[in-house]
Amino acid sequence: MKSLDEIKKIREEKRKELDLRVNLEANTVEKHILVCRGTGCTSSKSEDIIKNFRKLIEEKQIQNVRVIQTGCFGLCAKGPIVIIRPEDVFYSMVKPEDCEEIINTHIIERKTCRKITLQRCRPEAW
Ligand code: FES
Repeated sequence: MKSLDEIKKIREEKRKELDLRVNLEANTVEKHILVCRGTGCTSSKSEDIIKNFRKLIEEKQIQNVRVIQTGCFGLCAKGPIVIIRPEDVFYSMVKPEDCEEIINTHIIERKTCRKITLQRCRPEAW
């Protein structure tokens, strides 16, 4: 059993992470690449997408970007789904070979990646 102070510290850390995902106005340098691991997206290679993102982030020594697997977003026919927060950009029908393009264009150049089907969840966000 952890002490109450340890539990409070963990809660504060997790609260910051969750804030980035639900509060699109969050003032942070961190980015989360959310990759769907629901059944439909997993059958379309979302596991490979996660591996490719993590490999590229490590190879390029990119800081403050985390790859997080999620449950189904409910848009299975458009999968695999990748959402990048906090800017809330939504890429659909992503293939494992698209990861490098997304990392180079979206994460490094800070531009939306037009080669991959995308929709902005909030058009004014980015
Ligand atoms: S399985 Fe990915 S959106 Fe449903």
